[in-house]
This record gives sequence, C-alpha cells and structure tokens, in this order.
Amino acid sequence: TWTTGNVIEEQVEAIRELVGDKRAICGLSGGVDSAVAAALVQKAIGSQLTCVYVDHGLMRKGETEQVEKDFVAATGVQLKVVDAEERFLNALAGVSDPEEKRKIIGREFIRVFEQAQAEIIADEGPAVEFLVQGTLYPDVVESGGGTGTANIKSHHNVGGLPEDLEFKLIEPLRKLFKDEVRMVGQELGLPEEIVQRQPFPGPGLGIRIVGEVTKERLDLLREADAIAREELTAAGLDRDIWQCPVVLLADVRSVGVQGDGRTYGHPIVLRPVSSEDAMTADWSRLPYDVLSRISTRITNEVRDVNRVVLDVTSKPPGTIEWE
Ligand code: XMP
Repeated sequence: TWTTGNVIEEQVEAIRELVGDKRAICGLSGGVDSAVAAALVQKAIGSQLTCVYVDHGLMRKGETEQVEKDFVAATGVQLKVVDAEERFLNALAGVSDPEEKRKIIGREFIRVFEQAQAEIIADEGPAVEFLVQGTLYPDVVESGGGTGTANIKSHHNVGGLPEDLEFKLIEPLRKLFKDEVRMVGQELGLPEEIVQRQPFPGPGLGIRIVGEVTKERLDLLREADAIAREELTAAGLDRDIWQCPVVLLADVRSVGVQGDGRTYGHPIVLRPVSSEDAMTADWSRLPYDVLSRISTRITNEVRDVNRVVLDVTSKPPGTIEWE
C-alpha cells in the first residue's frame, strides 16, 4: 500500500545507490516541488547535494528568507544563494513588454544559475554528475513520457535549461501528484509555508507589474501582496482558492481622495482564481468582508496605491496571470 513513509524509504535507497560517491546539485525555486525533491535527495546523500537558489529580487515578501532560513533549518541542506537582484533589475530596466520581460528573466536566470553551477563543480570534491529536478507525474504525462535522463522540458523551470546539459537527472517525484508531494514534504519535516504554497510563476512579481519593473514598484507590490495573503490566510481561504495573483497597474493612475487631499495613485488588481490544473479557471467568489478588509488595508498601508479592483474574468478568455 502507498504511504509517504514507503515512498521516502524507496527513493532514499534508490538515490543512494544511483549517486554513489558522486555529487548532485539542485535548483531551488521556493516552490513546493523543488523543495521536496531537494529534501528527499538531501535525506539520501546529505552533503553530497548542493542546492542553488537564485534570488532575482522578484520574490514575494518573506519567500527568500523561507528558503534561506526555514528550509535550511528543516533539512540541513547545503545551500548556495546568489543575490542577483541588481543584475535582474538592470536587465529589466526600461522594459514593459510582457514577453520581453519573460525572456530577459529566463535568460538571466540561466546565466546566473550556470555560473553558480560552474562554481560548485569547480569546488574540491567528487564529480558533480547529477541534477535534481522536481518533476511531477502530470509533467511527465504532459511531456509525453521520457526516460528520466531526457532533455529538460522548459515548463519545469524558470527559463528552460540548455538542451546540451550533461547531467543525469534525478527526479524523485516522477510518480507523484501534487497532493502526494505535499504529504511527502510534510513527512520530511518541511515548513508548512513551503509545503502548502500555492503556485507562483518563475518570473515572479516581474510579470505582475504591468509596465516597467523597478525596485520601488516591486516594494509596493510586495506590500500589497503580503496584505492580501495575510487576510486570505486569516480568513481560512487558502485551501479554497488555487492562487490569488496581486497585480500592480504601474502605468495607470486614477484620482482619489484620502484624508483631506487629492491623490493620484495606482490601482492594485486582485485576481483570486479557482482551478483544478490552471488550464482553465474561474474567478473565486470571495466573501465581500474579506475583499473589503484587503481593500481597506492596501489603500491605507501601501503608499501610492489608492484603488483596489477585482478581476472577475474566467480562463479562458483571461489567463490567470496578467502577463
Ligand atoms: P496562466 O497565466 O498561463 O498561468 O493562466 C497558468 C499557471 O501557470 C503559472 N505560470 C507560470 N509558472 N513559470 C511558472 O513556473 C512561468 O513562467 C509561469 N507563467 C504562469 C501561473 O501562476 C498559473 O498558476
């Protein structure tokens, strides 16, 4: 019978045998899949695994700390953090086009990740022969099977790793569905905030700012997003919604009034959706009092935001993200 304990035991044994005395590396995105895959491999081979986390400066409030502190504390994993915020912001300066932004973020990510990888490989120690990926069963099916050492499909990571990659892949979650992965993560003692995390796009908040991405705008959006998440969690709604992107319309301003003065600020869009698999989605009918709390807090607490609007579009025709 299927138990998380069995899955862990089986995988740990198989990974130990496969890796032998070589080393493995794993990219952490902050998401559930890569975290659980890394934790499982860490359990199997300990310090023969090194994880890489690229901080592109486009994460939400507290997420980088979750990886840097909580994940490391829970697993004892060896982690290399690359602070690349400035690099990403420089590359994104002056760019408003969504596809252009995605391309830049993907490209920079690969460069930074490869650089970190090269540094790890150059370290003293056994050869780095393996790359750990958090591929799930639905990914395997979607990409038509695969042998486990095949090319990495671009939807498995932020921008797609190069196709001539010479690593052998370790994909310990290949037979699991998302809810099973969460159970395994829980069993491995990972923090609740990581195990129960809702989907978040690789390009991060970079595609939730309609307009140019700047540090100042990211900080505004991070505040607004943190408020929305806090209130949704407090209302016990996390399990009811698939995700709730919070979007800053940085190129739009509207007139408002606050205290005894006129304001001319930006709107924040709330995009709560319900979905089974993100292929289609419906807008979530959130309780008015929760929406009201979020709106009041965002307009009171976030500088330069004077309006909160609700996206009531299903997918299709709208996508979940705005860019
Ligand atoms: P859309 O906007 O296409 O989003 O309806 C569907 C789901 O995919 C997530 N998403 C991404 N995830 N890298 C990712 O890892 C990406 O570039 C990306 N773009 C969108 C989105 O959050 C939603 O869950």
